[in-house]
Amino acid sequence: MDFLSTPIKTAVSTLTQQLDTPFFVYDLDKLNTHLARLMAQTDVKLWYAVKANPLSKIIQSLDNAGFNFDVASKGELEQVLAQGISSERVLNTGPAKSPKQIKHFIARGVRIFVAESLNQVNWLNQHAQQQGIQLQVLLRVQLRWPEGEKNPLGGDSLTPFGLGCDEWQALNTADYPALHFDGLHIFQWGNMLSTQKLSELWSQMINPLTALANTLNITLKILDLGGGLGIPYTRDDNTLQWDELIQALAKIKQDAGVDELWMELGRYAVGECGHYANPVVERKLNYNQQQVILSGGINHLLRPAVTSQDFPVNLLRESQAPLQSMSLYGPLCTALDCLGEHSLPEDLNEQDWLVFSQCGAYGFSESMPYFLCHELASEYVIQNGNISCIRQVEDASHYLR
Ligand SMILES: Cc1ncc(COP(=O)(O)O)c(C=O)c1O
Repeated sequence: MDFLSTPIKTAVSTLTQQLDTPFFVYDLDKLNTHLARLMAQTDVKLWYAVKANPLSKIIQSLDNAGFNFDVASKGELEQVLAQGISSERVLNTGPAKSPKQIKHFIARGVRIFVAESLNQVNWLNQHAQQQGIQLQVLLRVQLRWPEGEKNPLGGDSLTPFGLGCDEWQALNTADYPALHFDGLHIFQWGNMLSTQKLSELWSQMINPLTALANTLNITLKILDLGGGLGIPYTRDDNTLQWDELIQALAKIKQDAGVDELWMELGRYAVGECGHYANPVVERKLNYNQQQVILSGGINHLLRPAVTSQDFPVNLLRESQAPLQSMSLYGPLCTALDCLGEHSLPEDLNEQDWLVFSQCGAYGFSESMPYFLCHELASEYVIQNGNISCIRQVEDASHYLR
């Protein structure tokens, strides 16, 4: 798999003539083609998990493609509404829905919520009653599997996302007249790359979920499977085939007997459209290891430090030099600031730029930009073949007080 296409290389090269600090570039033309494909089916209702990338232009592409929006904070909600998107197309997930946040969401017109605790159910009902409105609510369920597996979304570990079946048994749905309990939500596995494994996990969820719905007297109209569809981060990773996934999802929908199957996609929707270009500051040999110090690191792309999984990288310039193993570091004074060990042309030097790919999701907004007061990365888009700047580079004086 080639992570860096020729049009992206050309666009990044053009930008590097004018810029000397790291920047993100999102290929909206590629994104729009991909999103059209995702929407060309009737089995799954698709929402966009805004946390993956809240940039206005990205949200607008998802809107144009017909996606709905999953938001998990007031900031995400306001960003979606600021793009002219109706609150009827917004769903609120997330473990920290305070009464204050719920009140704000209701006032802004949101009517669909995933409840993650008994308190949230209570608060949703209270605020809905105060406003004289009805809300559609899905309960988020956290299941346990016998063969435990680790995963950033929790997998089989205990997380604050939703409640176990036993804990939900305490809910008497009849006590909440302002809420329509229309379904269940479950999502515990991130960045999955096997349709078969996903199918197995989803299949195993059906019995416990339908049993829970029965005990709670909920007619299971909607099953929301969250996100979790992965993208390759190395050349050897598998790539999920959308047609196969849709077949698997259609079967799950039928087996669960639900009217609607929902997913909120983040990574799979936007991950592949983004690249991060980063100038080389210095190269040195240290204890026999080739070290490359870059202008940006986990201040702009935190994910490698959190998941131990690197973004794939290429040298921007063409080089026929043999490849050599190099460790890539960012500018922060912490050993965490490492963007991985990669094979790169041995003539790489201080005039070069590296381009990291698969950075469209969990990039700019999943970072630690303030530590050491470096610049915030700028953000560009390619739309109809034209490059435009959405965010100029901002230096630390912009946010320091
Ligand atoms: C509730 C919920 N839905 C969907 C997503 C998106 O997940 P992904 O990026 O794996 O598609 C997330 C991500 O954390 C989430 O918390």
